[in-house]
Formats: sequence, C-alpha cells, structure tokens
Amino acid sequence: MTLRLGVNIDHVATVRNARGGDYPDPLRAAKLAEKAGAHGITAHLREDRRHITDADISGLMEVLEVPLNFEMAATPEMQQIALRHVPHAVCIVPEKREEKTTEGGLEVARDDNRLAEFIAPLREAGCRVSLFIAADQKQIEAAHRIGADVIELHTGAYCDFHAEGKFEERDAELERLRAMSSFAHNLGLEVHAGHGLNYETVQPVAAFPEVVELNIGHFLIGESIFRGLEPAIHEMRRLMEAARDERV
Ligand code: PXP
Repeated sequence: MTLRLGVNIDHVATVRNARGGDYPDPLRAAKLAEKAGAHGITAHLREDRRHITDADISGLMEVLEVPLNFEMAATPEMQQIALRHVPHAVCIVPEKREEKTTEGGLEVARDDNRLAEFIAPLREAGCRVSLFIAADQKQIEAAHRIGADVIELHTGAYCDFHAEGKFEERDAELERLRAMSSFAHNLGLEVHAGHGLNYETVQPVAAFPEVVELNIGHFLIGESIFRGLEPAIHEMRRLMEAARDERV
C-alpha cells in the first residue's frame, strides 16, 4: 500500500493572520504543495478561526485537485459547514480554546452515542469520516463501533519524547502506535497518523505497513522558510518512501 502525505496548511494562515491581510495565501501554498507531490491537503477550521477561515475552506474546495481533509471539532456549526462543502474527508478532533494545538485524542469511548449521531449525516453525504485518537484500544474499538471509516493516530507524545531526549518513553510510545495500527487495521479501519512529525521522527511511523496516510503541517511550513515549500515536501516524501521500502 502506498503511503500518502497530507500537507496541513494551517500555519500559512497563522502567518497571514499575524498581519491581518491576505498574504501569504494558504491557497497558493496548497497549490504548491499539490505540485510538490502532496496527496492531499489538510486544513483545520477552528472554532475561534485563529488560522484557517471559512473563506479559505470555500477557496480550497474550489481550487484543489487533490482531496481536502477538513479538520473540525464535533460541533453543530462545523457539521453544517462540512455538509455544505462535502469535502473528501472530515477529521474530527477535540478542541479547547486555550490550547496551542490539538493536545490529545478525541474521547470516543465515553461519547460514543453523541459521536455516532454526529458522524452519520457526514457519512451519508459522502465524506470519509476520520477520528483523531490516541493509540488506545478502547478508543479504537469505539471508533469502529460507531462506524468511522478512518482513525488518525496522534503521534504527538512520540514526537515530544523524541524532542526531549526521552528515548525509552519514545520507543514505548512507538511500540503502542505500531500495535494499535495493526489492531485498527484488523478491525477494518483505515489508519492514518500525524501530529508533530518531522524529518527525524517520520520514518519509524512511515514504516508501519498499516498506516496509509501521514498528515504533517507545522514542521513543513517551518522548514519551508529555510528551503522552500516544494523542496521541504520533496524531502519528506523521500524519507517516507525510503522507510516504506525498508531501505532505512
Ligand atoms: N493531524 C491532526 C488531526 C492535527 O490536528 C494536526 C495539527 O493540526 C496534524 C495532523 C498536523 O500536526 P503538525 O502541524 O504538528 O504536523
């Protein structure tokens, strides 16, 4: 199975919004990412609109040739927006106003009735529904039970342990991600992964045979300052493919 790269363009919008104008344009970044070989574009419309805006989502739906993965919280407002656009995929994430980024996975097991009702119309409309969760068997079983098509495993803890030099904890988290990718795949779920990945951390996750998509944003947009967006994406794809081919 090929491994797809979804490029998250939220932080192009963060830089744009720092000055309140329309530069740099996330749509231009999305088209460039497409040209550089991104298999999809991810954008998170947060409740407080701190980066991506409603107009960005409309624009992405118009200009993209690759699929849009629309990240959103499980709120009635976001559901309406998703049903208006019907993007290829909707990824449901937990959202807290005070957080800097999506800190944890979605609590599916304790909120399964509500989430089952929430995702049903999205699936009926034709969106592939993905749930962003921790590598936890209970959450995966709940995702399967409520009819999600996809789970995206949160790689944030694995990446944080790596950055902090806590290699034992990192390896334990990687092992959990590996085991849970396989568990979810065996239940029939499509498995994606993402959050915090960079050139140093991507390969062990890319090597999991059950993972078919990685969503990467902050690092790629940061790296594009130094080497440009297209070369930054080319290098990420090269590393992913090398890991997949077991050449690492
Ligand atoms: N996947 C999901 C579900 C996310 O919420 C995010 C962050 O918006 C990412 C992937 C990408 O994370 P990062 O920007 O750290 O690469």
